[in-house]
Amino acid sequence: MNEFEIKYRSTELPFVTLKLAQTLDGNIATCTGDSKWITSKTSRVRGHQLRAEADAILVGRGTVMTDDPELSVRYVDGCSPTKIVLDSQLKIGLNAKIFGGAPLIIATTEEMCRKRIKDRKKKGAQVWQLPIRNGQIDLKAVLQKAALSGLRHILIEGGSRVAASALRLSLVDRIAAFVAPKILGAGIPSIGSLNITSITDAIALENVKVESIGNDFLFTARVKNRPKTSEQPCLPAL
Ligand SMILES: NC(=O)c1ccc[n+]([C@@H]2O[C@H](COP(=O)([O-])OP(=O)(O)OC[C@H]3O[C@@H](n4cnc5c(N)ncnc54)[C@H](OP(=O)(O)O)[C@@H]3O)[C@@H](O)[C@H]2O)c1
Repeated sequence: MNEFEIKYRSTELPFVTLKLAQTLDGNIATCTGDSKWITSKTSRVRGHQLRAEADAILVGRGTVMTDDPELSVRYVDGCSPTKIVLDSQLKIGLNAKIFGGAPLIIATTEEMCRKRIKDRKKKGAQVWQLPIRNGQIDLKAVLQKAALSGLRHILIEGGSRVAASALRLSLVDRIAAFVAPKILGAGIPSIGSLNITSITDAIALENVKVESIGNDFLFTARVKNRPKTSEQPCLPAL
């Protein structure tokens, strides 16, 4: 049994890899949303390898509307996985590139109007109507449904807000962060707000591996449980 299956059997959730392609100062795009291309072609080839290893790629509406990605495997051999897009209002246009290629699942809310759903089904998409949690589609419910449908390894490719939701709900097992030797200053952070105010509450990573890929670095790590309190008193630096 592989680790994806083990995760599913013990939690009924898929194994989740969060992939980021960021600058040294932690941005995945400029303040205008431009993200093409932060990392090198070699890193992007490796990113496609990660896609080919996954059962599904998951992204948010913001990424689709800004980048109009195909979300396919092109630079390596392998099948393009299923695509899952979070779009609570079904705002993504019917001409978006995600409507071509591998199967597409659009996760939306239970209240969404039938006409919009019908239009997307006509374009070949499956539409999942799911509950809302804190004003957004319940990402845990999306992942539970995905796992139940046989999608046991999900690659989350962003953007910033989806990455934050996944981490906030402790849904991420592994991080694969491609870091390019570039600086953008105030751009779009690779991970949106997690409301962490104390370093002791930072999400801890373990089994860290760093690999050099041309001028970029690929940083892979497992997510440890979040510590809630520190055992040690915090002393001010002298
Ligand atoms: N370099 C990289 O690795 C990389 C990768 C991907 C994206 N990007 C960049 O990131 C930017 C987009 O990021 P973003 O943060 O604006 O958008 P995003 O994370 O792609 O999408 C966020 C949107 O998804 C919808 N959503 C529904 N349920 C959600 C949930 N549970 N959690 C979070 N979002 C949910 C919401 O829109 P509704 O309320 O309308 O449903 C939300 O505003 C673009 O500039 C893109 O180029 C960079």
